[in-house]
Amino acid sequence: MIQASGLSKSYQNVHALQDVDLRVEEGTVTALLGHNGAGKTTLVNILSTLLPPTSGTAMVAGYDVVRQSRQVCNVIGLTGQFASVDESLSGFDNLVLIARLLGASRLEARRRADELLDMFGLTPAARRAARTYSGGMRRRLDIAVSLVGRPRVLFLDEPSTGLDPASRISLWETVEGLVADGTTVLLTTQYLEEAERLADQVTVLSKGKVVAAGTPKELKAHVGERRVHLTMSCRADAATMGASLRRAGFNAIESPDDCTVSVPAAEFTDFADIVRTAADTRAAVVGFSVSEPSLDDVYLALAR
Ligand SMILES: Nc1ncnc2c1ncn2[C@@H]1O[C@H](COP(=O)(O)OP(=O)(O)O)[C@@H](O)[C@H]1O
Ligand SMILES: [Mg+2]
Repeated sequence: MIQASGLSKSYQNVHALQDVDLRVEEGTVTALLGHNGAGKTTLVNILSTLLPPTSGTAMVAGYDVVRQSRQVCNVIGLTGQFASVDESLSGFDNLVLIARLLGASRLEARRRADELLDMFGLTPAARRAARTYSGGMRRRLDIAVSLVGRPRVLFLDEPSTGLDPASRISLWETVEGLVADGTTVLLTTQYLEEAERLADQVTVLSKGKVVAAGTPKELKAHVGERRVHLTMSCRADAATMGASLRRAGFNAIESPDDCTVSVPAAEFTDFADIVRTAADTRAAVVGFSVSEPSLDDVYLALAR
């Protein structure tokens, strides 16, 4: 559904995107994962025809994003990084406005607006000005607006940034519902967790380049799974604990900065083995925590 090859975008001496290849199959979710400035928005904007590439080619639904931008526009929806709804209009009026702009009759436009408000749980707030909406509601309205034309491909640029946890989960469910109905989704995110939850494929961008691509599982295998951190009261104890865990078959690493030993824990059953080993070791554990890998860990692992 999306095929990009050798895409580059430069602004004078800034290389926002360099030689990016991307392939997205129909009906799947692909996440573009990267820190601020990695090039995510630039890539989304090129694919959604808002920005011409400096070089390279891209096709969406079989249409060239430069030469056939009109046809591309007819099959895509875009929810940008920043809210694009008219704050003074109600949710209903925002949706009707877009439907009318897309050529729907007054009746069709109202019907589509009602349908989308219902789908996004916004019916009770339908007649209120969008400026009175919470962040989560506004984000849902943003996405609803981008769905008015029933796009086959939906671009979501950092859809969950700034949302509270409950709104984020509800957004994830919305995306899953769209994909179940056959929509192809390309979303950008700074959260490994989000990519893992939603995406079939992940492309990691760093400084405008693709530094990794694969399934979330492949990426995680590369980065390492969640880790257990055991803190001792001195370095000597940390060394003892590290050696003991390694004897038990764990790939334990002593931290260079403090008296902590960290151990990958791929399966939950690893917890019991780690705790058992720690209890059998002559070194008092004063702290215990578990961490999930973050985007920083992905970059670190890739750098290694
Ligand atoms: N119009 C522009 N002029 C100059 N530099 C830009 C412009 N747009 C983006 N950039 C630069 O391109 C890089 C990628 O930006 P962007 O695609 O917005 O990253 P992301 O969305 O991943 O945060 C950044 O270094 C950014 O400063
Ligand atoms: Mg961006």
